[in-house]
Amino acid sequence: MVTVSLALGDITGQHVDAIVNAANSSLLGGGGVDGAIHRKGGPEILAECRALRASRYGKGLATGRAVATTAGRLPAQWVIHTVGPVWSPDEDRSELLASCYRESLRVADELGARTVAFPAISTGVYRWPMEDGARIALATVRAAGTTVSEVRFVLFDQAAHDVFAAQG
Ligand code: APR
Repeated sequence: MVTVSLALGDITGQHVDAIVNAANSSLLGGGGVDGAIHRKGGPEILAECRALRASRYGKGLATGRAVATTAGRLPAQWVIHTVGPVWSPDEDRSELLASCYRESLRVADELGARTVAFPAISTGVYRWPMEDGARIALATVRAAGTTVSEVRFVLFDQAAHDVFAAQG
């Protein structure tokens, strides 16, 4: 049974087996969590991302999928990169967001990771409303048949933390 915990702060400081990155399909970096992970994790991470693009992911990583690389200088063994959906008022992409959490846990299981830190995927640049993003995150993780023992949601500000905490 997975234990779910909440933390407030920068995900790049979390001492866990795997840190999940809210990436984009290029896998070549960006802002937000992606920027912090590459900046703090160092060039090894990008080098492995480039190798993935040159091999299995020639067209980039599809939305809802996940892939692991080294964590470089971060206090973790792996970074699991996943691509969240951009929020759309016209189309319900909830299943794609749920897939990010499910697929990241599947990759974590393959790696043998026991503790995994997640950001609130898609709730920044990709504009997903925090409340709905938290609902999907918590429900998907709790329903996942995973061998991960602890999932830690690392929220960047108090408001996001309060939204996750209120979902219970
Ligand atoms: N630690 C934890 N959470 C963070 C951090 C951090 N260092 N930086 C940002 N966040 C939070 C944001 O406040 C937001 O709630 O992570 C959540 C996700 O925000 P983004 O990082 O913008 O990710 P997302 O909305 O999924 O957009 C992905 O943004 O950075 C680019 O390359 C990335 O194109 C991709 C897009």
